[in-house]
Amino acid sequence: MKEEDRPVIDSKVQSELLARARAAANQAYVPYSEFPVGAAVLAMDGSMHAGCNIENASYGLTICAERVAATAAVSSGHRQILAVAVSAPKVPGTTPCGACRQFLNEFRPGISDMMIILDDRDSGERIWLDELLPQSFGPRNLDAAASANTGSTRQEETHGG
Ligand code: THU
Repeated sequence: MKEEDRPVIDSKVQSELLARARAAANQAYVPYSEFPVGAAVLAMDGSMHAGCNIENASYGLTICAERVAATAAVSSGHRQILAVAVSAPKVPGTTPCGACRQFLNEFRPGISDMMIILDDRDSGERIWLDELLPQSFGPRNLDAAASANTGSTRQEETHGG
């Protein structure tokens, strides 16, 4: 992605998103790792959706905070995510895991990059999904294949782009 593909997001909105991620970390269900994480996503219409990590006695079923927040947004009808804030109170600067980077990429608006706000215990550190997941594979790759086969594209509303 190019620099001009980065969305401009009001700094107050960024602060609010980080505050929601921090608050969500308080709800984390982490009896095994004791590593709470909170996340909050900003949808295209300005709405915010938060989530925390939820662990399970069958360890592999654990869901990360970022995916819980993204699924909250999508299940409320918001498929385009402009930004996500992540707060891991025990380790400032924690970034989304590889699985979450791919999951978030699904809902990156076609026209723009996604801002990632990391909790540095200060006003937040900003990075971009394209930096965390360069040369990503996503819905657009399938669109490209579909249009090559049929000359048409899939329905726009199936995903963020
Ligand atoms: N975890 C998240 O929720 N998000 C991250 O960005 C990193 C890892 C969770 C998964 C697990 O519950 C705990 O943190 C330790 O890996």
